[in-house]
Amino acid sequence: MSRLDELKKIVTRVIENEPMAAHTTLGVGGPADLFIEVADEDELSSLMRYISSEQLPWMVLGDGANLLVSDNGIRGVVIHLGEAFQRINVDGNTITAGSAARISKVADTAAAHNLSGLEGVGTVPGSVGGAIAMNAGTHRGYINEVVETVSIVAETGGKRILSREDCGFSYRTSVFQSDKSLIITSVTLNLSPGDGKAIEDHLDSVRKHRAETQPQGKSAGCFFKNPPNNSAGKLIEMVGGKGMREGGAEVSTIHGNFIINVDNATASNLHDLAERVREMVRKEHGIELEYEVRLVGEW
Ligand code: EPU
Repeated sequence: MSRLDELKKIVTRVIENEPMAAHTTLGVGGPADLFIEVADEDELSSLMRYISSEQLPWMVLGDGANLLVSDNGIRGVVIHLGEAFQRINVDGNTITAGSAARISKVADTAAAHNLSGLEGVGTVPGSVGGAIAMNAGTHRGYINEVVETVSIVAETGGKRILSREDCGFSYRTSVFQSDKSLIITSVTLNLSPGDGKAIEDHLDSVRKHRAETQPQGKSAGCFFKNPPNNSAGKLIEMVGGKGMREGGAEVSTIHGNFIINVDNATASNLHDLAERVREMVRKEHGIELEYEVRLVGEW
């Protein structure tokens, strides 16, 4: 039996040579050899058993909001989590959300149930799984502060529940960044009673402010991490980076830490521009900007 036929017996959907540009907010990235959608945890678990026995390279695609995929694409399997992974359940002060649910939707659900604790992270773009892996948040709070447990499927197919301590959270990172064998499937959050109307008003005002101070269009959010006690956007503005172009890529004129696809950019355009900006900041300020977007594929 061919590999494709074997996979079709295990999972809901398999596509060969799927362009990643269609699955990333930057709208760039070459083809994935195999693009596989799993319907639920059991399917994911079976797929991982197959992948590890065949020793195939693999990665999980969240909602592609923080990825820069190279123009050559991705060798091996890209796993896409299906609709069951978007479920959100509320039980008292506890919310359990699938890793593919949008974190903003989880925050809105919390507000609708008068639950506080997601005000900081609820305005950040991306999925729950991405938010956990990156420990997303703002000065109003980071997601680690409300995590009770994280359910995962391991590379070998086994299921486990991790405590907050197991997750190794710190600024914009977690164990899921270093241990790529763990796939987040759902998260249980422990929230506290709050004033739903005030929370929703807060979320709305931050979203509005963000829409005014950050560019719309094809972006991956902030390209670089903020260096300690500094702002990458400000540093890039100070070295005159705003408005710089490379092919169809541009450093946003609105916020220097956004490198956007303004006109059919390639992944290389975006990466080259990011490297030019980094070099300028390194030269003038002696600061090495670290990527916040995840670089995937060969560079
Ligand atoms: N600034 C400039 N020029 C710029 C951009 C910013 O001078 O081009 C200044 C601002 O005026 C402000 C300071 O730098 O005084 C900080 O800027 P901002 O408030 O925009 O916040 P940030 O530190 O650039 C962080 C997060 C964002 C998040 C905002 C708002 C990081 C790397 N970035 O940005 O997150 O949206 O706060 O909460 O931590 C993302 O996660 O993708 C992201 C964009």
